[in-house]
Amino acid sequence: DEAELRAHFEATVAADRRVEPRDWMPDGYRATLVRQIAQHAHSEIIGMQPEGDWITRAPSLRRKAILFAKVQDEAGHGLYLYGAAETLGADRDELTRRLLSGRQKYSSIFNYPTLTFADVGVIGWLVDGAAICNQVPLCRSSYGPYARAMVRVCKEESFHQRQGYELLWTMMRGTPAQRELVRDAVDRWWWPSLMMFGPPDAASPNSARSMAWRIKRHSNDELRQRFVDMTVPQAERLGVTLPDPELAWNEERGHYDFGTPDFAELARVIGGDGPCNAERLARRTAAHEDGAWVRAAASAHAARRAARERA
Ligand code: 3HC
Repeated sequence: DEAELRAHFEATVAADRRVEPRDWMPDGYRATLVRQIAQHAHSEIIGMQPEGDWITRAPSLRRKAILFAKVQDEAGHGLYLYGAAETLGADRDELTRRLLSGRQKYSSIFNYPTLTFADVGVIGWLVDGAAICNQVPLCRSSYGPYARAMVRVCKEESFHQRQGYELLWTMMRGTPAQRELVRDAVDRWWWPSLMMFGPPDAASPNSARSMAWRIKRHSNDELRQRFVDMTVPQAERLGVTLPDPELAWNEERGHYDFGTPDFAELARVIGGDGPCNAERLARRTAAHEDGAWVRAAASAHAARRAARERA
């Protein structure tokens, strides 16, 4: 009966074992996983746009090949995650409809413009660096398909972060103009990267339940702090100054103190009022409409093949 099923579910989560698609789970657990996994998948797919704009304008064949591989990886991450959402009974077409109608979101970070090629390096270093901080704990999420998707994503994410840092390393040893491009890009992306981790814990409506169900293993503020602690030494080695006058090592805490991100800006960007929200959704909508004939042809082919097998 349901009491026994619930007790078994709770014992599984408490023992850090995995909940699998066929296991009984509370409706709220299923719903919050579909919500988070779908938004994670949407983020990967929309995230292809900011960097994708630079594939045709990369400064060398090597940079073009690296960027192309990274953007292709993001598409793959989206597909793993839509697949994980489908194991919970979600319908992929319905998730796309919710994204295109604004009922489901994607990460705020992808609503900022990529103005120069230095942005490609800074996105790899800061945005994929933040993603690694957020996604490594998700490899231990209580829901099996999500955790397993994250293991593969994190392996590819390390290449994304490394290639971004190496690009900036090269530019910082280039001309003064290249160093200026890096400084400008770091100034534009630093605070939005901190906002990626979500609102502060005190204003995070989903965290308590997500942590109780061991979907989320650390709070938004903990991961934000972990990202700052990891990134400041990298910025020093790179020779860039992060745009936060309050940034300072706190020996007592064993962490860096840093300023407060503009969470009002985060709320505006999540709400649709960021620099590129309309453009990102318009391009995703156009791609979906342009691809309608492919979906129709694939469905017709599948139907004909099923009819042949029945005959
Ligand atoms: N962008 C958009 N929405 C955000 C957000 C952000 N940066 N931060 C929080 N939100 C939304 C949440 O989705 C939630 O809204 P909802 O209830 O309508 O879904 C609301 O703001 C309140 O936030 P909570 O902290 O209560 O929500 P969560 O517990 O879901 O925590 C999260 C937010 C930390 C982003 C969590 O959802 C998460 O870990 N998601 C999976 C990882 C992910 O999406 N990473 C981001 C980008 S993907 C990526 O990095 C690609 C890489 O290759 C570059």
